[in-house]
Amino acid sequence: MKETLEKIHKNALDAISNINSTADVEEVRNTYLSRKSELNNIKKNLKDLSNEDKRIVGSLSNQITKDIEEKLNEKYQTFYQKELNEKLEKERIDITLPGSFTPYGKVHPLTQTVDEIVEIFKGMGFSLVHNENSPEVETEYFNFDMLNIPKDHPARDMQDTFYTKVAPNVILRSQTSGAQIHEMLNSRPPIRVIAPGRVYRCESVSARKNNLFHQIEGLLVDKDITFADLKGIMNEFLRLYFGSARPTRFRSSFFPFTEPSAEIDVQCIMCEGKGCRVCSGTGWLEILGAGMVDPNVLRNVNIDPEVYTGFAFGMGVERLAMLKWGIDDIRLFFNNDARFLKQF
Ligand code: DAH
Repeated sequence: MKETLEKIHKNALDAISNINSTADVEEVRNTYLSRKSELNNIKKNLKDLSNEDKRIVGSLSNQITKDIEEKLNEKYQTFYQKELNEKLEKERIDITLPGSFTPYGKVHPLTQTVDEIVEIFKGMGFSLVHNENSPEVETEYFNFDMLNIPKDHPARDMQDTFYTKVAPNVILRSQTSGAQIHEMLNSRPPIRVIAPGRVYRCESVSARKNNLFHQIEGLLVDKDITFADLKGIMNEFLRLYFGSARPTRFRSSFFPFTEPSAEIDVQCIMCEGKGCRVCSGTGWLEILGAGMVDPNVLRNVNIDPEVYTGFAFGMGVERLAMLKWGIDDIRLFFNNDARFLKQF
């Protein structure tokens, strides 16, 4: 038994002297000290020996175990340090090298425009309508009927409106004005909201027209609201959006849901009123439609027009963005060409 132990010891020491890495250390440890090792087997079977042998073999096997452990630990320390130094040397970071470039995205110019306009109106006390009051898939009832747009109005023509197969009256909204109706049905005056969103029109696509575009609708209903309030709010918005005091003018116009109605022009930002290609030589650019909410519309939503008055407005986001940045083709917003998008 003693010889066996000495043989194991010798083999272990040989193996230890051949160690070249921390991985070798673990392998040798496994072979000579693990629970399945020969040495451990001997210790396990001590109980079958005579008392005398138990003492001798027990003490010798403990000594050998201790010696192997110590030598292995020494080796481990040596190779651990060596391997660490090699690793540090190999993985040294050159902090003078240029960093790797991670391109990051930007907010789409239309989103930027909507955000900016929303902020301006929030600053004037307007809040955003709830999403459920501004659905993109609409019924003719909200998009037209309730807005006082008669059944024979040309805007209802199949050429302008996208009809769906869901049901005969279900359409993709052609304007955000339906949000006015939802809002007035779901809350009572005073109302002061804006509703930005997508609208759809079945038209041929060109530099000026896309099937999908964005509008921002505004609605204010309260007691004693007059056209002067509308004019004040619109002028302040245009001043904040286009910067500086740019001349504006209100042209009388017609919308079925407002009376009186107006279209608002701003002096051409390209030529400052001198007349150019962008403004077709007139010196003015049409920016938005607005007016006093038609009493018929108020009646449709059970608001008494004798008690309350209000104004509404609607503007095209693409047009406002194109004017501000001098973009001459609406399709650029939808092509997702990074060369275009990264300029904003
Ligand atoms: N909905 C109109 C359009 O798409 C724009 C508009 C005009 C909205 C006058 C309004 C308004 O709220 O009062 O052309």
